[in-house]
Amino acid sequence: MKAVVLAGGLGTRLRPLTLNTPKPIVPIFDRPFLYQQIDLLRKLPDIDEIILSLNYQPEAIERVVGDGSTLGIPIRHIVEPTPLGTGGAIKYACRNIKGTVVIFNGDVLTDTDLQAVVELHRKRSAYATIVLTPVDNPWAYGLVETDGRCNVTRFLEKPNPDEVTCDTINAGIYVLETDTFDRIPDDTNWSVERQFFPSLVDRNETFVAHVNRGYWLDIGTPEKYIQAHRDIMTGRCQAYPFFDRHARDSLVAPDATVSSKAKLEAPCFVSSGARIEAGARISAHTVIGQGCVVGADAVIDAGILWPGATVGHGAVLTDAILGHGVRIDAHARIGPGTVIGDRSVITRYSRLS
Ligand code: GDD
Ligand code: MG
Repeated sequence: MKAVVLAGGLGTRLRPLTLNTPKPIVPIFDRPFLYQQIDLLRKLPDIDEIILSLNYQPEAIERVVGDGSTLGIPIRHIVEPTPLGTGGAIKYACRNIKGTVVIFNGDVLTDTDLQAVVELHRKRSAYATIVLTPVDNPWAYGLVETDGRCNVTRFLEKPNPDEVTCDTINAGIYVLETDTFDRIPDDTNWSVERQFFPSLVDRNETFVAHVNRGYWLDIGTPEKYIQAHRDIMTGRCQAYPFFDRHARDSLVAPDATVSSKAKLEAPCFVSSGARIEAGARISAHTVIGQGCVVGADAVIDAGILWPGATVGHGAVLTDAILGHGVRIDAHARIGPGTVIGDRSVITRYSRLS
């Protein structure tokens, strides 16, 4: 059985981070995001290949993920000639595949029991099986209503707040049958959420739902991207090998240099080659990427620094994300919600929030 990961979106809500780093490979600590999904899919014994459905900056993704030989499963990259939307992308990626396929949105962090989803699909001889998850703000997702037998009775993508009737949404994980794809036109921008799923309901075809009660998060906004790191560090999400075993500890790479006069609050993460100077304070839930430098007396309070970022003497950063190689000069103050694109320079005493 093949798995297809939809990884071709523009990642607009994560700009400017995604201008040079497509969303599927933004780092989670020091691993490209897609690796978590590959780990999860590999656990399914039936999956013999993962296909990455790409459009935006495919070479960047191919360079990082390669053919899967270092990840323990063959990986193939299929690049659409133009963005085909989620439905068009699935049809294009599956054009030479027969039978059952597992589809994954390339931005969901989860520990869903995929084996249980595939078993439900087979037991019900379903045309399609979808994973649902409860959330507080269903209007931001695809709302999915079900009946008492787990049949999907309504699929409404991004409903208006007054159209919300339940809290279960599309978690972006499906088991589908390729012979149902004949309703998706070839080489046409088409939405699996707005067109394919509603068509199954309209035609009364067997469309069933598995409700995930475990961890689930779409990392597609800066707030959720920060939350993913926090949830892993506190042990709420068990997706990162170190924090799985040592939730609530800090993880400092053996070749990072941390001054004995710097203060690190657990849980935090300091990657390889990073340097933390005297008097600096790294608060809980902070992520310091590879080769970053945090200058003397600087404060990083729940920030995320991508590789090569530097923070000058006495600067203060709160709940902010710095892209690759960003330079924050001495005494600057970077406030909550700030996201700074790769290689930007913020001069000393600047204030951003
Ligand atoms: N190949 C390809 N081509 N991939 C695409 C395209 C495309 O044209 N458009 C989007 N994708 C990929 C994105 O990279 C992402 O991994 C996935 O499809 C979903 O797109 P998003 O842009 O992240 O959609 P969303 O988060 O607003 O909504 C979707 O996900 C929600 C769960 O997180 C929908 O599927 C909702 O129904 C769902 O609730
Ligand atoms: Mg998304």
